[in-house]
This record gives sequence, C-alpha cells and structure tokens, in this order.
Amino acid sequence: MADIVAGIGISHVPALAPFLAAQASRTPEERGPGIQAFFDVSDWMRDQHADVAIMVYNDHGAQMSLGLVPTFVIGAAEEYPPADEGNGVDPSLAAFPGDADLSWHIIDSVVPEGFDLAVAQQMAVDHGFRIPMGVLFGAGAGVSPVRAVPIAVNVVQQPTPSARRCFQLGLAIGRALRAYQADVRIAVVGTGGMSHQLQGARAGHINEEFDRRFLDRIVTAPEELADLTNADYINLAGSEGAELVMWLVMRGIMNPDVDEVLSGYHVPVSSTGAGVVAMTNR
Ligand code: DHB
Ligand code: FE
Repeated sequence: MADIVAGIGISHVPALAPFLAAQASRTPEERGPGIQAFFDVSDWMRDQHADVAIMVYNDHGAQMSLGLVPTFVIGAAEEYPPADEGNGVDPSLAAFPGDADLSWHIIDSVVPEGFDLAVAQQMAVDHGFRIPMGVLFGAGAGVSPVRAVPIAVNVVQQPTPSARRCFQLGLAIGRALRAYQADVRIAVVGTGGMSHQLQGARAGHINEEFDRRFLDRIVTAPEELADLTNADYINLAGSEGAELVMWLVMRGIMNPDVDEVLSGYHVPVSSTGAGVVAMTNR
C-alpha cells in the first residue's frame, strides 16, 4: 500500500539555492530559525525515506510558451530533463527520474472523476521543479534519491485555476494515492510563492503578514485559503505570489487533519518572501 509520508510547501525562487549554499558554513544560531528551517526540512525528508515525490509546480515559459499553456498538466515519463531557461542547459544537470506507473495511476483515477489533466510524455522542467528537488532531496547534478511525478499548474496566464479548484484536484489525487497498491513512500510538494511581484508598478511587493498567516492556515485551516479568489491572491501576495494556489493541491492530497513538523520564513530571498512548511497526516 502506498504511504503518504510528507506534505511540504516551499518557495522555488532560483536564488534559494545559492542563498542556502552561502548559509551552509554558519551555525543554526547564526542563521536564525527562519533560515534554519530550510536546512531542517532536508534532514527531516531524509528520515522519511520517500521513494517518490509528487511535485506541484509551474513552468515559467521555459517548456510552455505563452502560446500553449495547459491549465493542469501531469508528466507521464520515465525522466524529465532540465529546461533551457534562457542561458542554455547547465551541463552539470541531468534528467530527473520519473515514475510513469504512478503517473498513469493518477491519470486513470482523476480523469474519469472529471479532472481532465493534460498528459505530457515528454516534458522539460524548470526552476519551479528543480529548486525544491535540490533543497528537499539534494537532487540535481544527475543524482536524485526520489522518482518524481511533476504536475504543472498554470499560474502565469489568465485565466488561472482558482485556489478552490486546486484544492479539489488535490482531494482527487489524494483518493488516487490511497488506492495505489504499490508499496511506495510518497512525499507531496507544493511549490512557489510566497509573496512576490516581479513586474509592473508593484514590483517588489512583499506581504510578510499575509505570508505568515498562509503558513499557519495551510496547516490548520486550508478551507480559508481555498475560499480566496485569484484577485485576492494577486492583491495580497503579488502577481507572482499567486503561485501559492499550488500549495492547495498539496494540502488537498493530505488528510484533513495534519500535524505540523516545522515551518520557517525568511524575507527577502531575491524579490520573494521565502517560506517552507512540512506536515504529516495525523
Ligand atoms: C523569483 C521568484 C520566483 O518564484 C520565480 O519563479 C523566479 C524568480 C525571484 O524572486 O527572483
Ligand atoms: Fe516562480
């Protein structure tokens, strides 16, 4: 029987990797709790011995141009190469291993339920996927201890799916995972956010108060977050902070009652309020 061993929400800002690398030689006291949580989460993940990670992320125009943006797309491939994000592909990176059997199980479960996911049997993955894989699992440079099932959500081009729809998709995927007979340990990861806006008159917008409330409510009151409209997310968290709806997919997959393992917040990393939360099913 499949076992859901972890639910994680985590920012995917590219600067997170060099930021944490620069913090590596400091002590936990020097880092402070907000930064230390990003180190603790990778230690904790190692102890969970996950076999597979469901990675809910968004493509930033690297694989999907604005000419073709599926609302939800699930990867069903044996591997996912890194996308060219404009500077060529880093030659030290290799493809991330997939789990096509689990992908097809999810597809065959949720499509008949009315969640018509687009299916990608070939898909390159950008920093939205790659940065959390590195922070959580040390994956990159050709080494990954987990297989991955990428689920890409359109949070880039309007109209984007609502937080409620993302939560409902998570509930459907959760039902699929609970019916999966293979003996695998599954980690579920929602990526993106927290508040940031990279463009327009409000470029640089960060809302620490909202981010901290979101970090609490994603554990204790996800319905409250699913009730917010996309306009609410953009107004509160910024146009790119609206990526946070992807954490609702993760939260829908988890049980209604969860226990928080850790959470942390540091602002800013690049232009972004960087957050992480880890939870287990009760
Ligand atoms: C930044 C944040 C993101 O979520 C992203 O996808 C790219 C860049 C940033 O703050 O630099
Ligand atoms: Fe992003």
